[in-house]
Amino acid sequence: MCGIVGYVGSQSALDVVLAGLRRLEYRGYDSAGVAVLADGGLASARKAGKLANLEKALAERPLPAGATGIGHTRWATHGGPTDANAHPHHDNAGRVAVVHNGIIENFAELRAELADRGHVLASETDTEVVAHLLAEEFSGCADLTEAMRLVCRRLQGAFTLVAVHADEPDVVVGARRNSPLVVGVGEGEAFLASDVAAFIEHTRSAIELGQDQVVELRRDGVSVTDFDGRPADVRTYHVDWDASAAEKGGYASFMLKEIAEQPKAVADTLLGRIGVDGALTLDELRIPAAVLKAVDKVVIVACGTAFHAGLIAKYAIEHWTRIPCEVELASEFRYRDPILGGRSLVIAVSQSGETMDTLMALRHAREQGATVLAICNTNGATIPRESDAVLYTHAGPEVAVASTKAFLTQLVACYLVALYLGQVRGTKWGDEIRAVIRDLAAISGEVGRVLETMEPVRELARSLSGKKTVLFLGRHVGYPVALEGALKLKELAYMHAEGFAAGELKHGPIALIEDDLPVVVVVPSPRGRSVLHDKIVSNIQEIRARGARTIVIAEEGDEAVVPYADHLVRIPATPTLLQPLVATVPLQVFACELATARGNEVDQPRNLAKSVTVE
Ligand code: F6R
Repeated sequence: MCGIVGYVGSQSALDVVLAGLRRLEYRGYDSAGVAVLADGGLASARKAGKLANLEKALAERPLPAGATGIGHTRWATHGGPTDANAHPHHDNAGRVAVVHNGIIENFAELRAELADRGHVLASETDTEVVAHLLAEEFSGCADLTEAMRLVCRRLQGAFTLVAVHADEPDVVVGARRNSPLVVGVGEGEAFLASDVAAFIEHTRSAIELGQDQVVELRRDGVSVTDFDGRPADVRTYHVDWDASAAEKGGYASFMLKEIAEQPKAVADTLLGRIGVDGALTLDELRIPAAVLKAVDKVVIVACGTAFHAGLIAKYAIEHWTRIPCEVELASEFRYRDPILGGRSLVIAVSQSGETMDTLMALRHAREQGATVLAICNTNGATIPRESDAVLYTHAGPEVAVASTKAFLTQLVACYLVALYLGQVRGTKWGDEIRAVIRDLAAISGEVGRVLETMEPVRELARSLSGKKTVLFLGRHVGYPVALEGALKLKELAYMHAEGFAAGELKHGPIALIEDDLPVVVVVPSPRGRSVLHDKIVSNIQEIRARGARTIVIAEEGDEAVVPYADHLVRIPATPTLLQPLVATVPLQVFACELATARGNEVDQPRNLAKSVTVE
């Protein structure tokens, strides 16, 4: 939530910052702003709405050229999405500019104090108090980095702050508590950003800032301390993807590109984790076997799409390991006093690794003595840093707000963890594990096959663009798939969409069925658990008898559904537990196409942001 960029070097700061903001716009697009230090002063511009509005304003009224600058793209929390609330914020003398991601919880009190001392605050934001406090502290010490440390000690809440002062034209200062901030180290230049994507075209050498740290950027280097000024240990790492991974690469949207990348993302997530003998090698987890053997309960915490991955994982974990598994929305978890202890394994699933609800849930779990394993797509993000262990998904950068390839790789990672538990605890034989791994390895190709047959789904989606409601039904692992299909449609097409367990329909929701209402049904394989299959075929008949227009997603060769399907979408036959990996894909394509047909911007749906760093 909110994207931040800072730059000091010898290039045009405005160009570098604007290019960075373009890459970070997925984090929020309520407003955008920049500030540049030039000619002994500070020049800034900010505009409500998308970055394009700011760029237009800058074309009409250019800023003076400077080589130090900061920028911000906003997801509004305090104060509406107006020009006045857009970042950067300034002190009354216009010498300080600051951008912020997060929420300063004690801002009302600080604001009142500042007003008593004669400061005039011009916005409704919590951020503006920081600009004024920095100006006050700077007047005492003439050192922006020290001023930042002093101010941070007074702030409560979550914040990433980046600031410049006209009296220190070659310095950018950043501070981090709970929200992400990464440093990019170049030759004679340095960068700060919420995400490496902002500076990946300039450098792949990055430093992840730790909790409660302040960083000072100068052309010739960076220095990191804690809020008390003590030097901090920093770890420089190499970003293993390049700028092209963060480009649309010829696709109309990032979402389409990311849907298309799923076969590779799935294959990459398996890479290096299967030994030559076909057994699992997950030593990277570094959780001692004794700890895994002692686990008596698994709890998965996650939000949104990642939560749906967790719901599916529960079936696999319980089936393969016989360990009870709970799945909980991270935002609810710690408030209900969950029962956890030294033998609980908590799995925090998060694409961004920054979701505040998930972070708070994992902190709570660790306080209760649980072992926490993160499944994450972002190297070095807060959630993996604060977990006991991490299994990275290798989906590559996911830019579209709606999660697609990350979801599939989260499933793969969860399956790997489940199998590994089974391997370590001896609840699954080696040959059984190898058989599942073989099936998993084949899935990447199956996802590719699904993608090749999506034209009828796109056509169907376009034909339904005038509908108000679409329902989704599933059973067993198909139920969370139905929830995911409904979430995708809600967030992208802004339609009423709901997912139900098909068996639950008769307990109430069937009253929603009316003539020509589109209902998507995810049908379990007729092989294996055929009872489930037979039951869902009955459910399809029940809704069809009441007028529903049935859109049936069923395995190739499943002839039983044919008479009851108004539209039939075929997916490859897979083992039951792995079916979500192929069944979700048509639902992603369906939502993306329907949203596009309604004129919506699929990469940046309204009111949303990719990385949700507020609770
Ligand atoms: C929906 C979507 C969100 C995220 C959720 C968790 O398409 O993307 O529901 O899944 O905000 O985000 P992460 O995985 O970053 O913790």
